[in-house]
Amino acid sequence: MFKGKKILLGITGSIAAYKSAWLTRLLVKEGAEVKVVMTPSACDFITPLTLSVLSKNPVSVEGFDAKTGEWDNHVHLAAWADMFIIAPASANTIAKMAYGVCDNMFMTVYLSATCKKYVAPAMDAEMWNHSTAKKNIAALKQQGCIIIPPGKGELASGITGEGRMEEPATILEIIRKDFFFTLPLSGKKALVTAGPTRESIDPVRYISNRSSGKMGFAIAQALASQGAEVIMVMGPSSLNTPDAIKTVRVETAKQMSDACLKAFPHSDITIMAAAVADYAPEKYSSEKIKKNIADENLKLVKTQDILSEMGKRKKKNQFLVGFALETENETRNAKKKLREKNLDMIVLNSLNDAGAGFEHDTNKISIIDGKLKVKTFGLKSKTEAAEDIVREIINRFAKK
Ligand code: CTP
Repeated sequence: MFKGKKILLGITGSIAAYKSAWLTRLLVKEGAEVKVVMTPSACDFITPLTLSVLSKNPVSVEGFDAKTGEWDNHVHLAAWADMFIIAPASANTIAKMAYGVCDNMFMTVYLSATCKKYVAPAMDAEMWNHSTAKKNIAALKQQGCIIIPPGKGELASGITGEGRMEEPATILEIIRKDFFFTLPLSGKKALVTAGPTRESIDPVRYISNRSSGKMGFAIAQALASQGAEVIMVMGPSSLNTPDAIKTVRVETAKQMSDACLKAFPHSDITIMAAAVADYAPEKYSSEKIKKNIADENLKLVKTQDILSEMGKRKKKNQFLVGFALETENETRNAKKKLREKNLDMIVLNSLNDAGAGFEHDTNKISIIDGKLKVKTFGLKSKTEAAEDIVREIINRFAKK
């Protein structure tokens, strides 16, 4: 489940910092991408080198290097993370987090991070039971942090009591249950298509289109980040896909159809963002076709409309989304496609909008739902447009 997840691990000054090495190891073994940020006093307990070797990434401690003027971008690190685990969280850092005291790299990252945060405190029993610690923990809960309470046992001071940081394997289990089962699409399966298809004429030529696969890929990522288990069926595209998204690579419309119709019965939400070729050569020539005989050899036949087929097979609880790429009468044509293909929603792109459609990193979309209500969005990055699409799906899927 942690496979492909981007996890930021914050380590603060506590003897329990040695357990963070094991936590890092467990996360990496699960397939997570781990980056570590440490407070300067955490480095008294465990070296950044240990964490860097285990996480396979550089460790951030200082905001900048005074000698070179080079600085570490905390906003970038915070934006990168899917979740932030702070383990161990010392009494001192918990107090800073509660009040927003921003005096080190760790704290700048903490205050910039909008992802889900897990805090595993570690301190002596008296400190843990102190009224200020209790108030600070309550403040963190109010900020949305999930607290993984310390366990009881022998503490570094020699006394026995509450304050030991929870064991790494238990921390992982608590996060697994919380993170993966409380997101809006947790436990749901999604199928997404992306990219063009390529219909070969002969060994050197093919029919295709300008789709890059970026929109479908962004949708697959947005669905996964909302907890869905995603299968992406992708036509020829140069994009590299992360491990968290199971990707089936196909070339032709027929292969895309076979892969999609196989996965469709198990899919709760299906989004057909691929630009599937409407026509393919009637037959493939294993020899290169000579130019003087091309006319007689290049007969085209219609491919199967995968989305229409899904519309026919759709069960009551399945949510089906199509795309419409139009150049004229955009809304009318998109509504027609929605009705004829039996969809729950259609995403319309107009090639007349600057920055929208194929080969751009941006898109301008309108969403039309089953009640033919149209919602138009501004020009955004494909990542943001994908988040809008997934948000609209979540709102309606819950009511189905
Ligand atoms: N689609 C599909 N199979 C095809 C063609 C299209 O599943 N053989 C899907 C696309 O993935 C998209 C939707 O149908 O979600 C609409 O595609 P689009 O090319 O806009 O429309 P068409 O139905 O092909 O109609 P036209 O090309 O005439 O506009």
